[in-house]
Amino acid sequence: MLLADRFRGHADASAREQSPLYAEWSLGIAGDLDVLALIERAPEARRQPALVLAVSRWLGAPLAPWPRLREWMLAHPDALLAELARRTTQVNDVRRLGPVSLALARLEGPVALLEVGASAGLCLFPDRYAFRADLRGAGRDEQARWGAADSDVVVELDVDLGDSPLPHDEWPRRVVLPEIVWRAGLDLDPVDVTDPAAVSWLETSLPPGPSERVDLLRRAVAIARSAPPRLVRGDAVDGLAALAATAPSDARLVLVSTGTLVYLPGRRRQAFVDAVRALGATWVSYERRDLLHDVVAEVPEGVAPGDGFAALALDGRALAVGDAHGTRVRLLPS
Ligand SMILES: C[S@@+](CC[C@H](N)C(=O)[O-])C[C@H]1O[C@@H](n2cnc3c(N)ncnc32)[C@H](O)[C@@H]1O
Repeated sequence: MLLADRFRGHADASAREQSPLYAEWSLGIAGDLDVLALIERAPEARRQPALVLAVSRWLGAPLAPWPRLREWMLAHPDALLAELARRTTQVNDVRRLGPVSLALARLEGPVALLEVGASAGLCLFPDRYAFRADLRGAGRDEQARWGAADSDVVVELDVDLGDSPLPHDEWPRRVVLPEIVWRAGLDLDPVDVTDPAAVSWLETSLPPGPSERVDLLRRAVAIARSAPPRLVRGDAVDGLAALAATAPSDARLVLVSTGTLVYLPGRRRQAFVDAVRALGATWVSYERRDLLHDVVAEVPEGVAPGDGFAALALDGRALAVGDAHGTRVRLLPS
């Protein structure tokens, strides 16, 4: 895809994400041959719009209208290219635990939780956050709460129950998480929650917009800092078995992956699925729904693309479809 088109696409995505400034910046870049030529000097993999904009902010670009950003970028080409070459965006979105917790609630504990692509490990603490869900559909309009009621982190979730009978009488009206007795994360590039610069980069990787996302991130970081999670640097496929082998054998090993498979090239994705199966572990995923054949197969016709960006799946079988961040899901017939 042409670089200008990537920035145009990013402008649309930013508008949807309620980040008008990133939408304006992206459109500005898409139509500016000088700035595009500058970005083309970065390695191919480092020309992603989200990375270019985050690096610019990180280096001090003003949060100001596009002409000011343009001026800044053209005045700092060397610094921009050097930083682009050594950084990748880092995301850790605890909102994805909304759907993930719904799947965890279907499992018996005690659980040994291993997250693949854990980033800063913030999604390793579903039992330390509060969840608040609006449940609609199937003749119901009610609220449900679960998790640690007094937590500083409150994850909000809209659940469309669909028209079909619920798979379980109470679920997801009454969600009870299994006991988590062990937790660890695997990541190619783990983020240390005790390192202020690393956490600051996590914040800068978020688009400027509503402050709730940064606030939620900071609250989750504060909880993680009180007992930093065990994070191991390693590849999702090559590093999995060794880390899984350190989990207690008397707990159910549950692998979680959220927003991570997209980073694995096609064949590695299948190798990951094979590695998970070889371990005999339970696998909870909230991933782009077109990435796993099993998941795609179970998404019914007529699910609008905006509602079905991602699929929540348990052992590769889709339970729900939802948005990229896990804030809205629609349950699928069981
Ligand atoms: C978009 S982040 C998602 C983080 C977290 N799961 C969440 O939902 O907030 C993807 C993570 O996957 C990691 N990653 C990418 N490729 C990987 C690989 N081959 N093996 C392990 N981790 C990988 C990245 O470093 C990054 O932290």
